Amino acid sequence: MFFDTHAHYDDAAFDPDRDALLRKLPARGVSLVVNPGCDVKSSAAALELSERWPLLYAAVGIHPEELAGMGEGDLGRIETLAVSDRCVAIGEIGLDYYWDQSRKEEQKALFIAQLELALRLDLPVIIHDREAHGDCFDIVSRYPALRGVFHCYSGSADMAAELLKRGWYLGFDGPVTYKNARKALEVLTLCPMDRILIETDSPYLSPVPRRGKRNDSGNLSYIAEKIAEVKGSSVEEVAKATLENGRRLFAIDQ
Ligand code: NI
Repeated sequence: MFFDTHAHYDDAAFDPDRDALLRKLPARGVSLVVNPGCDVKSSAAALELSERWPLLYAAVGIHPEELAGMGEGDLGRIETLAVSDRCVAIGEIGLDYYWDQSRKEEQKALFIAQLELALRLDLPVIIHDREAHGDCFDIVSRYPALRGVFHCYSGSADMAAELLKRGWYLGFDGPVTYKNARKALEVLTLCPMDRILIETDSPYLSPVPRRGKRNDSGNLSYIAEKIAEVKGSSVEEVAKATLENGRRLFAIDQ
């Protein structure tokens, strides 16, 4: 069975068939999902889904792209949501210099506040790092007690090696199946099996051969196949290792 450690089932793309899709996931080989939030509203929606679906856990946080829409008191609301039993991480949080170069300092302040919240609540973090590798690395390195995953890891092999040394997990998504995946495959080669997480980022980032269509956790098998190929192992071994890794990081004993 697979563990999708990153899928956004609160997204409007799932409005037409969310419940039917979640109901069918076990039959499609998926036994666990973590649904990260991107702002207060989607974090609350993730938590609400996690209360209705035993296979789904929530993470709560404010994504750097949602910085502009933040209201006063939002961080306090995230903290209130985070104390729920069904919340297993703070995420997704981080830095995104692809979408917004103009508010780097504000992005960093929001990121740091949420890392400190995770430490206070003893929760792992789910990090979004888009074209902000140096700053993300510098900031997380200031907090050696932090645990978590670099979601859809897109940094260099050198930075991956440094993160692995510091105990971080790396998330691999649909892009490992794309033709231009050279760098991600290099990182996969050096990443030990006990630090790999597989994620879909549904409804985005569909793997080949589903590229361009709405993504869901049933497509994890394509990512696992690619990882098995790179690691010279089997899909079953990848499924088992990544399921154990996810349970360990997010402290899920189900
Ligand atoms: Ni995401």
